Amino acid sequence: MCFGAHCSGHSTKKDTGSSHCWGPEGSGSRAPAPRGAPGGSPARAPRRSPYLSARGHVAHVLLGSAEEGYAAYHADKYDEESNPDGIINFGTSENKLCFDLMSKRVSQIAKRNMLRNSSLVFILREEVARFLTHYCKAPAPLKAENVIVLNGCGSLFSALATVLCDPGEAVLIATPFYGGITQSVFLYGNVKLVYAYLDSKITGTSTRPFQLTVDKLEKALQDAQAEGVTVRALILLNPQNPLGDIYSLSELQDYLEFAKRHELHVIVDEIYMLSVFDESATFHSVLGMDRLPDPQRTHVMWGISKDFAVSGIRFGTLYTENQDVANAVASLCYFHGVCGPVQHKVAQLLRDRDWINQVYLRANHARLKAAHTYVTDELKTLGVPFLNRNAGFFVWIDFRKYLRTGTFEEEMLLWRRFLDNKVLLSCGKAFECSEPGWFRIIFADKIHRLQLGE
Ligand SMILES: Cc1ncc(COP(=O)(O)O)c(C=O)c1O
Repeated sequence: MCFGAHCSGHSTKKDTGSSHCWGPEGSGSRAPAPRGAPGGSPARAPRRSPYLSARGHVAHVLLGSAEEGYAAYHADKYDEESNPDGIINFGTSENKLCFDLMSKRVSQIAKRNMLRNSSLVFILREEVARFLTHYCKAPAPLKAENVIVLNGCGSLFSALATVLCDPGEAVLIATPFYGGITQSVFLYGNVKLVYAYLDSKITGTSTRPFQLTVDKLEKALQDAQAEGVTVRALILLNPQNPLGDIYSLSELQDYLEFAKRHELHVIVDEIYMLSVFDESATFHSVLGMDRLPDPQRTHVMWGISKDFAVSGIRFGTLYTENQDVANAVASLCYFHGVCGPVQHKVAQLLRDRDWINQVYLRANHARLKAAHTYVTDELKTLGVPFLNRNAGFFVWIDFRKYLRTGTFEEEMLLWRRFLDNKVLLSCGKAFECSEPGWFRIIFADKIHRLQLGE
């Protein structure tokens, strides 16, 4: 396997929750139809550049139509001193509560001469295997040879989609979901997403709003197949972004059995696994299960951008027992590699279990919990319903009562009113939510900023 320490000139693509969103219907011509702004109103088709291929045009449109909210935020960023009337960003899924701890820790890690050290990545993979064995509570030690490292989970989605699906084929995912995945699977792989729509009604076998059930997965798969779409994989986000749901062991078992029945790969994204901030909640990693229904088709990813509050350090890891998949993804590492200095820092960071447990996670969970309590108490006082969950950086809020006709156009208007009042949120359409009126707020921020945004 080739795990060269290539420095990638990446762009840090953060979860604004309002990245360009496309439905599978737009993919007929192999290019997803950008719907532009987060309210989902169709954007005017941009003129095709004479300099670009059709593929280049799609990539250009994806980046060029940088949506309104994020552009507005960058032009008028809140800053305590220089711009106290600026826009507060509650849209980007970033943990702003632990920059102090992390910047100190990362700068403490000793520098090493890494210009010629080809063994670095092997050290890192061993460290990752030990780390995941411990935090995922694996029943047996995980193996370094099953670990692949890339520059972030976004790249991993892209690489996996490319090696598991042929162009035009699809991956199943439940909505609402972190919208960046659409772009990740499409850009290189030309892979589209098929949606299992979840909603707030509690019906059938469900016991909570937006609950993922096997019935809903079966229906979405059947509908896609009836339309002639070949579905190759299922994506599970656990903890879920934007809902904050954590799946129980039996739910996980059911989803994995469903995938096995239909010979689907399962891509399990556990990027928020250490951001479960309430002791009453238990996270179960797929890597901690005693027996996987289909180990050769189960691929688990994790990264440091969320759990270690360092979205600027690009690092994501894949664990798969399937050596064909591992080799295929590894060959794409050439374009998505982690540079030597970052490999060294991450290995040192993951190794220091005492600091992680005694200092970092304690402080992080206490801060997340306090910020979550602050925001949810305010919502209760205002009489605004929301999903009360214990994981991630977000609260999924029900603003439907503020929409008169319950359309996505109105959702967009409400989103814009927040922005006009200097608060950047993400609306449900950006997560392909099927019900207009749901919004995601990022609460992992300092209390004074949360107060200002009220
Ligand atoms: C569920 C989920 N997966 C993956 C990512 C991207 O992760 P990375 O920063 O490692 O590319 C995000 C970013 O918001 C996310 O929310």
